[in-house]
Amino acid sequence: MKAVVRQPQWADSSQGLGRWIERLISIGLLRRPLFFQARQLIIRTAERNGIPWRARRTMLRQMAGPVLSDVTTPGLVPPDYYRVRFHAYEQGNLCWQAATEAEQATDAMALRIWPAETLSPLTAQTRLRDAIHQVVDPLLSGPVQRVLDLGCSVGVSTQHLSRWLRLRAQARHESPACIQGLDLSPEMLAVARVRDSEGIVDSWLHAAAENTGLEDCSVDLISLQFVCHELPQNAIHAVLAEAFRLLRPGGALVMVDQDPASSVLQRLPVAVATLLKSTEPYIEQYFSLDMADALHSAGFRNLRIEACDPRHRVIACLR
Ligand SMILES: C[S@@+](CC[C@H](N)C(=O)[O-])C[C@H]1O[C@@H](n2cnc3c(N)ncnc32)[C@H](O)[C@@H]1O
Repeated sequence: MKAVVRQPQWADSSQGLGRWIERLISIGLLRRPLFFQARQLIIRTAERNGIPWRARRTMLRQMAGPVLSDVTTPGLVPPDYYRVRFHAYEQGNLCWQAATEAEQATDAMALRIWPAETLSPLTAQTRLRDAIHQVVDPLLSGPVQRVLDLGCSVGVSTQHLSRWLRLRAQARHESPACIQGLDLSPEMLAVARVRDSEGIVDSWLHAAAENTGLEDCSVDLISLQFVCHELPQNAIHAVLAEAFRLLRPGGALVMVDQDPASSVLQRLPVAVATLLKSTEPYIEQYFSLDMADALHSAGFRNLRIEACDPRHRVIACLR
């Protein structure tokens, strides 16, 4: 029997609060000042909490500009669903502003998970990533030699994965894995490259997660962190099929994203829900998808589904 997917009622555009929010944000004259105010608030709050938002943006832009052509696959045309407004950036993920603010936004997101605690951005980020790794760890069998982080953005997930796997390999007297990050945004990849000053990620690939061009059965671990809520359902199915093709038999997939059933998301204040819905074009499709069912249909087995914090869910499984 299929599980009933419990999406928050503010997300459902066909009725009630969801429909009301949808109408409100479709009016550009209302949406733009809302975005502007929200951006100012996010930046001010982040800087107060130890994230040097604007200084970091300037620095990353200067450093990343010169490496853009090195990380760009010439002629790659992103799918239409990708070329839309995301996170209040008119050019979505395909612009410098989004790329040079992604690290700060990721740290601000990690800090928001534990509002009652005073954490440094690094402590919050490390706690979030450690909890994700802990869910997949029991599924890993044998040495992990090749790892692919799909939708790596500016490499925060990729670097945390790499540090964890290096320690794991060391403890097991194994050689470190080859770690690759893959994303559709060349600007994000350019920032990822310059952020990785330790050189702990082997390469940054500019490709679509649903069409990587990599060989069958060549990867031991695939990570898909905070990506699925940015995809329409048909693209989620395509990415899962590609992950299945790339993994060796017994290889593992770990995904993390918002948990539609979490009480935090179910009870989101209307203003915040409005903002979230207006900046995430596919959030409703993501919330209404039965992810466990989608994974089983793609061929995955041994699903472990765990909350890694009050608002996110990790799903780890095997090919
Ligand atoms: C929220 S970010 C993920 C951040 C990162 N994985 C982390 O956990 O810190 C989502 C990323 O997915 C990328 N993305 C979205 N659709 C994609 C696709 N079809 N193929 C590759 N990357 C994609 C976006 O460019 C963006 O950088």
